Amino acid sequence: MDNRPIGIFDSGLGGLTAVMALRRLMPEENIVYFADSARVPYGEKSREELLVMARQDLDLLASFSAKAIIAACGTVSSNASHILEGYPLPVCGVLKPGIEAMARVPGRAPLGIIATAASIKAGAFRRALTEKAPGRQIIDLPCPDFVPLIESGHTSPEDPALRRAVEEALAPVKAAGAGALLLGCTHYGIISDAIRDYLGPEVALVSASDCVAEKTCRKLEALGLTGGSGETRYYTSGDAAAFSAAASALLGQEIHAEHVPAMEI
Ligand code: DGL
Repeated sequence: MDNRPIGIFDSGLGGLTAVMALRRLMPEENIVYFADSARVPYGEKSREELLVMARQDLDLLASFSAKAIIAACGTVSSNASHILEGYPLPVCGVLKPGIEAMARVPGRAPLGIIATAASIKAGAFRRALTEKAPGRQIIDLPCPDFVPLIESGHTSPEDPALRRAVEEALAPVKAAGAGALLLGCTHYGIISDAIRDYLGPEVALVSASDCVAEKTCRKLEALGLTGGSGETRYYTSGDAAAFSAAASALLGQEIHAEHVPAMEI
């Protein structure tokens, strides 16, 4: 038994999709979630900034006695994988588990990847999928409008601004006849209904958050690190009341986040 919490971090609301996925698989674990809302969006940051921020986020969760950490952020996972891998605690990023799931998609239809601008620029999602699924056509796209819309509450599939943004960003995925689409930014799981409405049921949506939760579950069981009392604590570097309200709406239960000071690069 190891009752220490599992740490999960993201730039804001997106990593809550990993919290929900992990909760379903490991209801007894304690979780400590950090939303770096003061610095959202990560997708507009430079690689140099992201390297520093990745370490700061890991260190913050380690200071809360995390036994393992999920980098529930595609942007950090694709730009700072060596920092995640070299960290002195078990750390899972979303890139590898997401790509492994995409490589298992049967058929010959093109495979789509959507992620933040910084993730697509890093090229790591494309490289990893090319390696795991050689010869398969890949279409990778940045969707820079999605995170600001989600963080400002435009998450309903009926929301006109969101529908417009989804249509504009994902037209090339539809035109390419993709068979599956990796949601390589954890925020995108929050708008999966809007994405599914536009692309239709023939495009399988693969959630990087679901994939990392499954991987973390297997890893903790293999390491004998499971145990806890099912508590979740939330911290944000932004406005605690605003984050609590938005997170409560997404999680379907009232939560109260605590503020931690914003970190500087
Ligand atoms: N949710 C994060 C990701 O998976 C970061 C999005 C952002 O802040 O731009 O990439």
